[in-house]
Amino acid sequence: MTTTDPTATESTTSGPTTSGPLTVPPFAVISGAQVQQALQGREEQIVQLVETTYRIHGAGDSVNPPSYFLRFPDRPSSRIIALPASIGGQVRVDGLKWISSFPGNTASGIPRASAVLILNDHDTGYPFACLESSIISATRTAASAALAADHLSRGRPRPTRVGFFGTGLIARYIHTFLAATGWSFDEIGVHDLSAESAAGFCGRLEQAGAGGRVTVHESAEQLIRSSDLVVFATIAGTPHVSEPAWFDHRPLVLHVSLRDLAPEVLLASTNIVDDVEHCLKADTSPHLVEQLTGNRDFLAGTLDDVISGRTTVPADRPTVFSPFGLGVLDLAVGKFVYDEVSRSGALHVVDDFFHERRRFG
Ligand SMILES: NC(=O)c1ccc[n+]([C@@H]2O[C@H](COP(=O)([O-])OP(=O)(O)OC[C@H]3O[C@@H](n4cnc5c(N)ncnc54)[C@H](O)[C@@H]3O)[C@@H](O)[C@H]2O)c1
Repeated sequence: MTTTDPTATESTTSGPTTSGPLTVPPFAVISGAQVQQALQGREEQIVQLVETTYRIHGAGDSVNPPSYFLRFPDRPSSRIIALPASIGGQVRVDGLKWISSFPGNTASGIPRASAVLILNDHDTGYPFACLESSIISATRTAASAALAADHLSRGRPRPTRVGFFGTGLIARYIHTFLAATGWSFDEIGVHDLSAESAAGFCGRLEQAGAGGRVTVHESAEQLIRSSDLVVFATIAGTPHVSEPAWFDHRPLVLHVSLRDLAPEVLLASTNIVDDVEHCLKADTSPHLVEQLTGNRDFLAGTLDDVISGRTTVPADRPTVFSPFGLGVLDLAVGKFVYDEVSRSGALHVVDDFFHERRRFG
């Protein structure tokens, strides 16, 4: 593996494709350390990029087929998901995120999720980069949550009491993105089945200098009733919150973990998703509502509909945002990282990765 000269012709900041005859692009590997360095301190820019990506997707300039879930009879709680996608606009890249979820990992202190992202060249189809992608995935998820918090709260008093329901890595990233995009809270509530996770999250809040009073709630009801912005980031596989009355104060709910809320709660709320077809799959809570009611009338629209003004969000009901998580977001953030690393001259190219470079030898 070598580090390229940033002025080398094969390496450009816009990707490997150049004008003229098609050539086999160089193949680069981008580590988690490089990904983190490229993204750190760029939260506002990433939220903007995620917004643009939702707009491109909403306008139909993308291909985002259903995610493919690989499950194992001998390890029923684990899975690996493939998210193939193609994004147009200025990003113009194809690719695949391949992300594992092994919840048993956390007992040994290592993260649940691990991932790689492959970027494919728009013109030749050649893969040109493999990026560590757990950070990209957490980043795009948190950026989407921060974007949703901003747009979905515009018609109501801005929340000052946030509650984190589930306090793992995704909750940490969401707090970081909220704080970095202008949110400050008088009260931060925390609830987790694991006292260790809750304590670790509180320690992290202190380290990050988060202002406001931090309270660990033993009861789920207490957490919800005392928060105007509720973030679900658990690993629950089936609904465990089913009492609509807990949401009588009409909070904004970022339902990032997708399977926590029972149909009764969604039916009493305004429901916004990232993509209708994606979200109504894989036994998410919105999917359960569709199965129960036999229709999609409970959906108010997508986040893009709200941003574009096609859907307005009433303040007189709870609002629930359920983002399935789109491969196009991973591509957009992954390409941003690729361009940053390439620009800095630190792209690690694997020499001769593609060896058969001529059709006739
Ligand atoms: N929608 C998206 O785009 C998207 C993207 C990435 C991750 N996610 C989801 O976010 C969730 C969190 O991911 P993570 O990496 O932070 O996981 P994690 O394992 O690091 O943390 C999950 C936390 O939730 C807690 N928990 C589990 N069940 C709970 C319950 N019923 N009540 C309270 N706490 C509970 C666990 O103790 C743990 O601390 C996962 O479900 C993941 O699939 C969604």
